[in-house]
Amino acid sequence: MAARTPFVAGNWKMNLLLADAVALAEGLKPLVASSAGVEIAVCPTYTTLYAVGKALAGANIQLGAQNAYVKESGAYTGEISPQMLKDVGCSWTIIGHSERRHILGEDDAFLNEKTRFALASGLNVMFCIGELLEERKSGAMNAVLERQLTRGLDGLDAELARVVVAYEPVWAIGTGETATPDQAEEAHVFVRSVIASMFGEAAAAALRIQYGGSVKPDNAAELISRENVDGFLVGGAALKADSFAAIVNACAR
Ligand code: PGA
Repeated sequence: MAARTPFVAGNWKMNLLLADAVALAEGLKPLVASSAGVEIAVCPTYTTLYAVGKALAGANIQLGAQNAYVKESGAYTGEISPQMLKDVGCSWTIIGHSERRHILGEDDAFLNEKTRFALASGLNVMFCIGELLEERKSGAMNAVLERQLTRGLDGLDAELARVVVAYEPVWAIGTGETATPDQAEEAHVFVRSVIASMFGEAAAAALRIQYGGSVKPDNAAELISRENVDGFLVGGAALKADSFAAIVNACAR
């Protein structure tokens, strides 16, 4: 098994009102309190971040946001800055989730700006990439992943150490269809090779690459057993404490 510490994060997406979000955090704490050798984070909605962060105080679960804007403050109605996220206890943000790329229309250049600003502001970034089913079928998958990485992470240097790449094939997100361990491993090997050509072999070897897309307790152990799978970004299964904890514990050593 690789020397990289597995990192499992829950992306709660646009789910859970305040009481339920806090209850989920409270329910999760005891289930992962003794999970060793794995890093854990949850990414609730903006409106529940503060309360969830309070509920998680002292626990081995970090707080992350699902998105962050490219300015510290000002006339940007509806946006949230990395500084505001840090203020409520976040150490992470997701950037470039496929729902933001495909539903909200965020492009590579904007995601690069977001990534750079979040990192410069002191947040760690889970940077998401992934191909559409048509792109996989037409043989364009590697070109798509390479474009998303080279444009999205352009201009980074030492800050790459605070980036985790999440490989999330769009056809596997929320569909119940998971990439096979072979498909995940193959994509992760390719991601690592692109990172090596951008930042060098040592940076590539140290980079953690999460898999995301219908990760469940019953497929997590097999996926994490692959050499280049360094954890998960979990959507649906992160909304129940027991299933998220089972995925975390599949990665514990
Ligand atoms: P899913 O979502 O686990 O529900 O497929 C993963 C994600 O979108 O990060």
